[in-house]
Amino acid sequence: MAENATLVLQGKKYELPVTIGTEGEIGINIKSLRAESGGAITLDPGYKNTGSCESAITFLDGEKSILRYRGYAIEDLAEKASFLEVAYLLIFGELPTQSELDKLNKDIKKQAYLDDDLKKILDGFPKSAHPMGVLASMTSALVAFNPGSVNVNSQEDMYNAIIKILAKFPILVAWAFRKRNGWPLEYGDGSSNYVNNILKMMFDMPNEKYELNPIVSEAFNKLLILHADHEQNCSASTVRMVGSSHAGLFVSISAGISALWGPLHGGANQAVVEMLESIKENGGDTQKYLAKAKDKEDPFRLMGFGHRVYKNFDPRAKIIKKSADEVLGKLGVEDPVLDIAKRLEKEALQDDYFVKRKLYPNVDFYSGIIYRALGIPTEMFTVIFAIGRLPGWIAQWREMRLRKEPIGRPRQIYVGRNKRDFQEIQDR
Ligand code: ACO
Repeated sequence: MAENATLVLQGKKYELPVTIGTEGEIGINIKSLRAESGGAITLDPGYKNTGSCESAITFLDGEKSILRYRGYAIEDLAEKASFLEVAYLLIFGELPTQSELDKLNKDIKKQAYLDDDLKKILDGFPKSAHPMGVLASMTSALVAFNPGSVNVNSQEDMYNAIIKILAKFPILVAWAFRKRNGWPLEYGDGSSNYVNNILKMMFDMPNEKYELNPIVSEAFNKLLILHADHEQNCSASTVRMVGSSHAGLFVSISAGISALWGPLHGGANQAVVEMLESIKENGGDTQKYLAKAKDKEDPFRLMGFGHRVYKNFDPRAKIIKKSADEVLGKLGVEDPVLDIAKRLEKEALQDDYFVKRKLYPNVDFYSGIIYRALGIPTEMFTVIFAIGRLPGWIAQWREMRLRKEPIGRPRQIYVGRNKRDFQEIQDR
């Protein structure tokens, strides 16, 4: 039963309505606080305690290690669904029937091409460019080749825009990768399923077709599902924020890619493997790195550890750890960094510093090790995360527009200089 919350500020009481979510989460609605109090706002840097929206897409409980997409447990989806089914679920709210899934596949295949002039833009990048930067720029450039804004009141318009980005984005991903390697650009194989086609587009060579391996396909499908959405994280919030100005879907997603790139967010998967490699090169001394992570004078953090929301095991990390063991075993890959990762995890979980702060391995701690075993190079890890997160970004953008959310525009408390007189340059 929703009750009001009472705030006492400078001796005056304010009644604030409370919103209770379907899982019992409590949100104190401060919408009228500023107007009623004559200017008071709440202050919450990093939005650690601030809900930006009501959402029906993803539920997570960081204390209980629960993650569900549209009510379905992540464990079930990762085990039983295809990535495209999960994409449909996230975006449209229900798991697709076979005919809905067939239609989605068919519509995506029809749009799975790029304007040839996009190759000229790609050509302009140096080979050394990080594929995340290339991907963000190319996704933005898609707008130039697909002008015209989406009429969000038209279901058809909305659907077409979503199909276009689902179809064209994996090609951009593959091209960003191939450009870096100096390989000819590819469109993959129209007869493959969505996930296998991504692998083919990345690895097919003119003189040697990529052999699909069911172990690789299954692991790749699972990883994409695990990354598909995570409610109001940094990149999803960015997508919603940019989209709230009524900027289009493609540019909103391009902004999300940039947000994902940072090492505190999606870039952590690359940073984890680099960290594990450097531990290996330094003789495997995990204790030394734990000490560095605990030292407040040292900016080093244990990458792949800690999470804003999970104060217990990240359920995705559990699935990925198991999968890492299986995939490496089945593929016969021996990677010494997997042993270092396991040792580091064990030692961190027994260490007071990490225990007290409830720092557990997150989704990125083991994902890079699997990507490596699948033959995906380090600088592509975050790009693969981006393909996985694409349905989540689309779903968040679509929900935000359908709910007619207002433009995102936080307030601030000004702490700068008070009014002062202008000084002529010779007097400064
Ligand atoms: N290593 C060492 N100490 C850490 C770590 C870490 N990985 N993470 C948090 N801490 C410490 C902080 O120093 C802080 O200590 P203090 O209370 O003594 O000051 C305390 O734990 C709380 O940390 P915050 O930074 O306040 O937590 P926040 O919620 O802001 O940050 C974040 C979460 C960014 C994920 C953080 O844990 C981190 O930097 N982890 C490493 C990067 C990483 O793996 N990112 C991927 C996240 S998953 C994803 O985005 C897909």
